Amino acid sequence: MNIIAAKDYQDMSEKACEIVSETVKSKDKPVLGLATGSTPEGLYQCLIEKNKTNEVNFEHVTTFNLDEYVGLDADNPNSYRYFMNEKLFNHINVNQDNTHVPSGVASNLEEECATYEKLIKEHGAIDLQILGIGLNGHIGFNEPGTPFTSRTHIVELDESTRQANARFFDSMDEVPTQAITTGIETIMDSKKIVLLVSGENKADTVKRLMEGEVSEDFPASILKEHADVTIIADEAALSKV
Ligand code: GLP
Repeated sequence: MNIIAAKDYQDMSEKACEIVSETVKSKDKPVLGLATGSTPEGLYQCLIEKNKTNEVNFEHVTTFNLDEYVGLDADNPNSYRYFMNEKLFNHINVNQDNTHVPSGVASNLEEECATYEKLIKEHGAIDLQILGIGLNGHIGFNEPGTPFTSRTHIVELDESTRQANARFFDSMDEVPTQAITTGIETIMDSKKIVLLVSGENKADTVKRLMEGEVSEDFPASILKEHADVTIIADEAALSKV
């Protein structure tokens, strides 16, 4: 794993923005894997700026998001589709038809998982996958215990994950209990992976990632076995290593 130390959140976002921009510029039909959560918001803001100044063109870009809550549709402000539209897609010149987020309201969720997985395969491979990390080491919504061989599937969310994400909802009862997520193997198939980590509350998570063993108990640990992973972490997140 290649570690890039960033000064703070802004610096982390700008460093990630450079990498994404380079990937988009260097391919005819770039395929990006995108993440939600508060961590990549600064990156998306930076990409919007670069698109405005014509430095980066998203016309031929295809995107695949990692995950979506079961039960929330695109109009629900807490859905990840809504988040992506608001934070990125509505503000860049990407063709909306080329932006993909699993549907959490599909009538047949198992079928939705298989279709999503197939769609990614039809595009070859994800050129660059952006990841955040949950406090318990989850990537996408692959919670501890998820097999490393998993592909897109439905998950029961950990109570700790629901609590961590409750800040976006009016009450804990509204936080979904299930999600669709691309699997760990789906993520590992990406040609390049960039993991973003910011803030002191992630310092223990970063320590475990760097110093702990590779184990399904800590999903992000598998990234150590990928040939091209870069972690961009700010000083606060790196404060315990
Ligand atoms: C959610 C998402 C993850 C994200 C994680 C961390 O659970 N499914 O993809 O990495 O939260 O979120 P944050 O960046 O807000 O800390």
